[in-house]
Amino acid sequence: MTVSSAERSDRAAVLCGVGGVLPRRRVDNAELAARLDTDDAWIRTRTGIRSRHIAAPHEATSDLAVAAGGRALANSGMDRADAVVVATTTPDRTCPATAPLVAARLGLTGVAAFDVGAVCTGFVYALAAGAGLITSGVADRVLVIGADVYSRIVDPDDRQNAVVFGDGAGALVLRAGYADEPGALSAFDLGSDGAHEDMITVAAGGSRLPTDPSRTAHAERHFAMRGKEVFRHALTRMTESARTVLKRSGLTPDDVDRFVPHQANLRILRTVATDLGLPADRCARHVERAGNTGAASIPLALTDDHTHRSLRPGDRVLLTAFGGGLTWGSCLLTWPDLPPAAEPAHHEEESTP
Ligand code: COA
Repeated sequence: MTVSSAERSDRAAVLCGVGGVLPRRRVDNAELAARLDTDDAWIRTRTGIRSRHIAAPHEATSDLAVAAGGRALANSGMDRADAVVVATTTPDRTCPATAPLVAARLGLTGVAAFDVGAVCTGFVYALAAGAGLITSGVADRVLVIGADVYSRIVDPDDRQNAVVFGDGAGALVLRAGYADEPGALSAFDLGSDGAHEDMITVAAGGSRLPTDPSRTAHAERHFAMRGKEVFRHALTRMTESARTVLKRSGLTPDDVDRFVPHQANLRILRTVATDLGLPADRCARHVERAGNTGAASIPLALTDDHTHRSLRPGDRVLLTAFGGGLTWGSCLLTWPDLPPAAEPAHHEEESTP
């Protein structure tokens, strides 16, 4: 017996568009080595990063988010969404959230719009929130954006972090559909451990330590990361989360065609892939050209993989992220048949005010 779509109970969020942008200015390792006590060999050996893109002084997170969101909507063939979720650690302002402005600039005034803060895991959390809006029937189309301008919070003279982080934005469009469709988001795993909140911080600027120009120390105003410890936690949590979401779906790493982890450091990505038993060539490595772009890194890597045909329709894709909080999360989906997307590497002036 054929079941009509009205009777089906397996409503799911289905991916139907991707897009991403990187700021125009590309900074390679040699440029950093000219002003910091570092060198290309150290950066490439320890992180795999060759270059990153840095926002222009007039470019804020919302500018990149609007450009990425607009591209994802165009790729989906839709010009409307019922909700906009923006994952970011670098909102335009502490108040209000960035998402309503992004929605308005995309011509979506009136829709639900909110930010999600889970640092580098933000995009997977935002994706889960977007999928939840769809499966609960609150929305039929959701634009999920990850956008960060880390260059505004990283001290440019901090050689550890200045070499690792870059700016950018990526976005996915989700629509209501069914669990057996290509593009369906089939399972999530999300977690946190606030006991380690001090491993990745911007100490000042919140209610705990408001910024006072005369009293706030330079270091307290900037992004700080206990790199080695974070590295160890990232390996464990990403591997565990990936295994959890696979187990929840009755799958094994062998079933994964493409692994798209948060692009923190090539060594982390390779080690997690190896621990999962995944061949290195199944793992996205956009980090080499964009550095760690925070909440933007997974949608940017997906857009880049789609553009370069490393993702094919029907591929089973595993997303896994880790970040400050500490937070971590994974998502499983099958890749849909999408039209070609624009290359993220050239952020056109289209989006700037
Ligand atoms: N150039 C040259 N030397 C550098 C350097 C740089 N850019 N940055 C740090 N160093 C030095 C350190 O001062 C240290 O010197 P010392 O041995 O004399 O003390 C040495 O290199 C080793 O530092 P270490 O911190 O052990 O390096 P690392 O191999 O751990 O690499 C990170 C540093 C940040 C790249 C790495 O720890 C990392 O990627 N961490 C995890 C990031 C992550 O997962 N983030 C996810 C959430 S955002």
